[in-house]
Parts: sequence; C-alpha cells; structure tokens
Amino acid sequence: MDFKDKVVLITGASSGIGKAAALAFAERGAKVVAADVSEEDGKAALEEIKAKSQDSLFVTCDVADSGSVQAMIRQTVEKFGKIDIAVNNAGIGGAAVHTDEHPEEEWHKVIGVNLTGVFLCMKYELQEMLKAKRGCIINVSSVLGLVGFMGSPGYVAAKHGVIGLTRTAALEYAPRGIRVNAVCPGFIETPMLQNAGLDHDDQLHQAISNMHAMKRMGKTEEVPGAILWLASDHATFVTGAAIAVDGGFTAQ
Ligand SMILES: NC(=O)c1ccc[n+]([C@@H]2O[C@H](COP(=O)([O-])OP(=O)(O)OC[C@H]3O[C@@H](n4cnc5c(N)ncnc54)[C@H](O)[C@@H]3O)[C@@H](O)[C@H]2O)c1
Repeated sequence: MDFKDKVVLITGASSGIGKAAALAFAERGAKVVAADVSEEDGKAALEEIKAKSQDSLFVTCDVADSGSVQAMIRQTVEKFGKIDIAVNNAGIGGAAVHTDEHPEEEWHKVIGVNLTGVFLCMKYELQEMLKAKRGCIINVSSVLGLVGFMGSPGYVAAKHGVIGLTRTAALEYAPRGIRVNAVCPGFIETPMLQNAGLDHDDQLHQAISNMHAMKRMGKTEEVPGAILWLASDHATFVTGAAIAVDGGFTAQ
C-alpha cells in the first residue's frame, strides 16, 4: 500500500494504536498530521514519525472541544492544503462501575471524548473533504461497539454510537466520493489497558485474554493493517463497514 503525498490526519497519535497507525502511514510515504491532547508525548511521537516521513506535523487538540477541533483542521489545511485520510482514534477508558452506581461525570467525560469527539472531528473533516470531492474516514470503535460489557456503560454506548455515526455518514457521503468506515479492535496491549490496571492484575489479564478465541490480547501493531487497508485503493468499494480486529472475540 502506497500513501505517497497523501495527507493523513490521526487523532490520539501520541500513543498506542494511533501512534502505530501514524508510523505505518509515514513508512508508506504519507504526510502525517499527528494530533493529541498530550503535547509532550505528541512531540516525542512526532520525532519517530518524522524519521519515516519528514513532512509531518504535530497539533495539540482536545477532540471533545469544538474550537480545538476546528483549529486542528485549520492548521492541517494551512500546512498541507487538504485532508485525504482522517483516522478518528483518540479515546479514553472509563471507570469500571455498573450502571446504577456509574458516576454521571464519568459518563459525560467518556461520551465527550469517545463519541462527541468523533462527531466533531467528522463534521469538520467532512467539510474539507467535500470541497475536494474525495476523502476517506476511519473511526476507531471497539469490540465494545458490537457487544455489551459489564461495568462500562459510557464506553460501550460511545463505541456503539461511533458505529452509528460511521454508517450514517457512509450513506450521506457515498455519492460524493467520501468513504467512512470503522475498525473494532479487541483488547489491545496499549497504555490505555495499563492505565486500567491490567498490567499488574494477572487474573484479570488472563480472564480478558480468554474472552478472545485466540486466548490472548492483541498487540498494538496488529491494528494498523486494517486501518491502512480501509484507507487504501484496495478498499474503494468498502463504506459503512465496522471491521472487527479482535482475535475472534465477537465470533463466539
Ligand atoms: N487498547 C484497547 O484495548 C482498545 C480496544 C478497542 C478500541 N480501542 C480504542 O482505540 C483508540 C486508541 O486507544 P489506545 O488503546 O491506543 O489508547 P492510548 O491511551 O494508548 O492512546 C489514546 C490517545 O488518545 C489521546 N487522547 C485522549 N483524550 C484525548 C482528547 N480529548 N483529545 C485528543 N486526544 C486524546 C491520549 O493522549 C492518547 O495519546 C481509542 O479510541 C480506544 O477506545 C482501544
């Protein structure tokens, strides 16, 4: 897959899946705009991205904030003149608390970043893509966008919502040259899971690994392949899809 001179905007690119995708696009010639709320990690990630594709940029952005998203789009277009591919990947985990006890502020925080954030990014990316009459959006949902999961009402609702947004935009923009798809990773060994305590709770790690048919979690490098394929010329007839990259989690 060749992304030479394609402008690829990736949110949440400082870490985990987003950073792995940014490096994979850069390796294949893309001009990468890495956006993240974490400036320090973002600048470190940019050094690695630039080693593969010099003409790349880091932009500080909080995807839950409309003004910040609009500034990210503005900076991207000012620098590169267009957005060919957007990967809406930024996301956070949430407190593991069942619905009746779930703190309302936690709900609003997770919905704000994981669902409203994707809506805001899509809204302003689409405005640019419509001008160009072409474009490709890949939203990072989750297996928890396909099935329920106890103790994560906000996260599960947001990730189901991302698939709904994906399908709706796919229908709206298919006639205008823009494809919109989602990937749904199983549990992937990234800082997000470390923050949830899985790196020092062997029993929980094993229990979650066993939910996957492959009896293991995924590695960060196992997700970008699907993202790159969806963005590539090999997937020109694919839109509105939600592709599981989940070691068989949802096959059972
Ligand atoms: N790790 C998993 O098991 C898993 C499984 C399925 C889906 N996902 C999804 O994949 C995506 C990436 O997660 P990850 O596992 O790589 O996590 P991660 O924590 O390693 O990376 C997430 C990145 O998003 C950034 N971010 C957080 N809030 C932001 C905001 N408001 N604005 C901009 N950037 C923000 C963080 O700073 C971080 O760099 C998320 O949407 C997550 O829900 C992860």
